[in-house]
Amino acid sequence: MIYEKIEKFKDDFLWGSASAAYQIEGAWNKDGKGESIWDLYTRIPGTTYKDTNGDIAVDHYNRYKEDVTLMAEMGLKAYRFSIAWSRIYPNGRGEINEAGLKFYENLIDELIKNNIEPIITLYHWDLPQHLQDLYGGWESREIINDFNEYCITLFKRFGDKVKYWVTLNEQNVFLTLGYLTALHPPGVKDHKRMLQANHIANIANAKVIESFRNYVPNGKIGPSFAFGPNYSYSCNPEDVLAAENAEDLNCNWWLDVYCKGIYPAFAFKYYERLGIAPLIEDGDLEILKRAKPDFIGINYYQTATVAMNPLDGVGAAKGMNNTGKKDTTKESGIPGVYKNVKNQYLKTTNWDWAIDSTGLRVGLRRLTSRYNLPILITENGLGEFDKLEENEVVNDDYRIEYIKAHIKACKEAVTDGVNLLGYCTWSFTDLLSWLNGYQKRYGFVYVDRDENDEKELKRIKKKSFYWYKDVISTNGEEL
Ligand code: BG6
Repeated sequence: MIYEKIEKFKDDFLWGSASAAYQIEGAWNKDGKGESIWDLYTRIPGTTYKDTNGDIAVDHYNRYKEDVTLMAEMGLKAYRFSIAWSRIYPNGRGEINEAGLKFYENLIDELIKNNIEPIITLYHWDLPQHLQDLYGGWESREIINDFNEYCITLFKRFGDKVKYWVTLNEQNVFLTLGYLTALHPPGVKDHKRMLQANHIANIANAKVIESFRNYVPNGKIGPSFAFGPNYSYSCNPEDVLAAENAEDLNCNWWLDVYCKGIYPAFAFKYYERLGIAPLIEDGDLEILKRAKPDFIGINYYQTATVAMNPLDGVGAAKGMNNTGKKDTTKESGIPGVYKNVKNQYLKTTNWDWAIDSTGLRVGLRRLTSRYNLPILITENGLGEFDKLEENEVVNDDYRIEYIKAHIKACKEAVTDGVNLLGYCTWSFTDLLSWLNGYQKRYGFVYVDRDENDEKELKRIKKKSFYWYKDVISTNGEEL
């Protein structure tokens, strides 16, 4: 629909920004914290861009007050951050580390003091290494109880202060990259194992939602899904069918389980025929059905455009563009299912991510039609090279343009009838990109460090900082 007049955001719209523990905190072995799989994985040469790691990251652990002061200056209404499981349980289970809880309590109190709604992500990829060693992490059903216990500890401690909770961040990404493409820990390439670990993660997610109802009855909880809606490359019915395949395998495979408690039938049958469908135990489907989220959290960066791929067509890509050298992404796909192709209507970033604000609106509408749940945008943003100019200025107009277009798409989606709770940008300060080092920046606040030198980690407000401040103060009326 093209409207002459679009609606306003609700008064309590959550204008936010997001981060993740490993990407900002540093202090990787401080105050009793145990090792996570990322602490060890990044020590293996060649796994990350220029072998970067989060040992120091942007030192948020020591500078959280300074960072919250900047958030308050901006007028941020919500801040989404993750809790490092291995700070709370250094071994993933067993004894609790009070110092870890205290750090997050201080952060939460600081946010509340500054009228910023805390949004907690319970798991943003930094699994305690001990659980990986002990039973293979997400491949064992033992993790269901360990994750539940860890979450209950947080519900009990922070449930009276924190209303919004995110269960798993991008289950589709951490399991695909961890078990299918071997780009994340534990570096496995095995589709069957990936699908089984994914089923276990589904149960863990559902169980934690059930526990949440007992401990935080007035809170809201949901997963954050990396949502890339699929377009058909053309109106050739073969391409349209390929897009249906991609949507089922890459989106509905997770979202239907979260929101309806069922696996999409075509995708399940496809995996059954390949002999890699997950093993479902008695009671699994019942728990998946019972645990409905309060909202769908989506991390939206781009859409995918797909075309028909013959049986002898292109297969999985080797690696991805982690350098920022534009147009280095190779065509990839699943023979007989679909292949990803370039969309001639869309520009791309230096990391070859399609820039598509209308795609966000398309996605929000698809989710609303299919699941009819409120939606919280838990991440959206532009990763780019930023230049620190003379007099400590960063003119990131491209970021402003990107976020502006996406907020406009949100407004149109709200006018369409989408129940949108809020919009969190990725990210508030610059931070470590898992595989792309420090040169791919997302923040409103520039952090003066690079891959080779931590320097003084000085915080410098970018042009986008002032722009987003105005957006918030006008509740999105002035873009
Ligand atoms: C999301 C993750 O996938 O995208 C974040 O939740 C991540 O942790 C962000 O940093 C941007 O991805 P990248 O690879 O550009 O850092």
